[in-house]
Amino acid sequence: MSEKKRILSGIQSSGALHIGNYFGAIKQYIELQDEGDGLYFIANYHSITSVQDKDKLRKLTQNAVLDLLALGLDPEKATLFRQTDVPQVTELAWILGCVTTKGLLDRATSYKDKIQRGLTPNVGLYTYPVLMAADILLPRADLVPVGKDQQQHLEMTRDIAGYFNETYNVDLFPLPEAKLNEYKIVIGTSKNEDGSFQKMSKSYNNTIDIFSEGKALKKAVMSIQTDSTPLEEPKNPEKCIVYNLYSLFSTKDEQTEMAENYRAGNYGYGTAKKELLQKINDLFEPSREKRKLLCNDPDFIEDILQSGAKRVRELGAETMDIVRMAVGIG
Ligand code: ADP
Ligand code: TRP
Repeated sequence: MSEKKRILSGIQSSGALHIGNYFGAIKQYIELQDEGDGLYFIANYHSITSVQDKDKLRKLTQNAVLDLLALGLDPEKATLFRQTDVPQVTELAWILGCVTTKGLLDRATSYKDKIQRGLTPNVGLYTYPVLMAADILLPRADLVPVGKDQQQHLEMTRDIAGYFNETYNVDLFPLPEAKLNEYKIVIGTSKNEDGSFQKMSKSYNNTIDIFSEGKALKKAVMSIQTDSTPLEEPKNPEKCIVYNLYSLFSTKDEQTEMAENYRAGNYGYGTAKKELLQKINDLFEPSREKRKLLCNDPDFIEDILQSGAKRVRELGAETMDIVRMAVGIG
């Protein structure tokens, strides 16, 4: 009998989840939950690398759980847990760190990006990929659905798994594969000074949040950066953030229609923004309602998280027994 593939992914609770997280990661979690043994978690140990305010961290973590459930992650089909309820990952991370060279971590582009954006270069941020490897290897996951920006972390996880197997002469860890989505990187609501697109990210202040609604959502959409081409002149859809974001929510025909409107002239960015706003509302409205209901039931949510963590701790215990024996501490 062939066993179901184990699919695992995590999302940091370092800010409100945005449409980049949705198209880059969450949409895949939900689609994949029927295909394999899905394990999904809120990476709140990772969040501590940047969020160091206890009330804020707690709130963001709780919000991320509500977001995933409201968007359709189904605890009957997949396991949902908080990373900090599975502290074995920190033990495994230490052991994996001892077979990982500094040179490997020095190559991590996400660390360099974060430092450039002004995050404090704490050791946690530097060894972030080792903890991520531990998250994936503890339950011995096969497949990891993530956005393209996480691809290098997945390659590092494969390297680290290989170092461990080789150092201790065991065949313990499978080499996990990244599962990238079709959207690649979702762009943010403003551009760089040189006119190039930015990645949408919690730390760039250029997001449209999934659960934003009403006036706040309208403001976020209406303030998307556009150029000053007059209304009557033709416009280039490919270079426009509004068109690019609209493409995520629409069919090929709808995209072609908007692109033709841009090229024909007499079509303003304001009109395109209203069409985008409508699409966002259509897609997320049912989840907003569901989220409001879930908010009223914190005990139900906590039960889901506790039973999820229990299962992952059990899977983790099997791995850690072998790891500890292999290392000579079991
Ligand atoms: P952020 O960059 O906003 O802090 P995270 O690092 O917490 O987001 O990312 C969580 C998941 O969402 C990851 O799988 C990541 O690849 C995906 N993701 C984040 N931003 C984007 C984006 N702009 N486009 C595509 N995927 C993204
Ligand atoms: N680093 C991921 C991100 O920023 C979050 C994460 C932590 C993760 N551990 C993971 C993703 C394990 C996949 C698997 O998006």
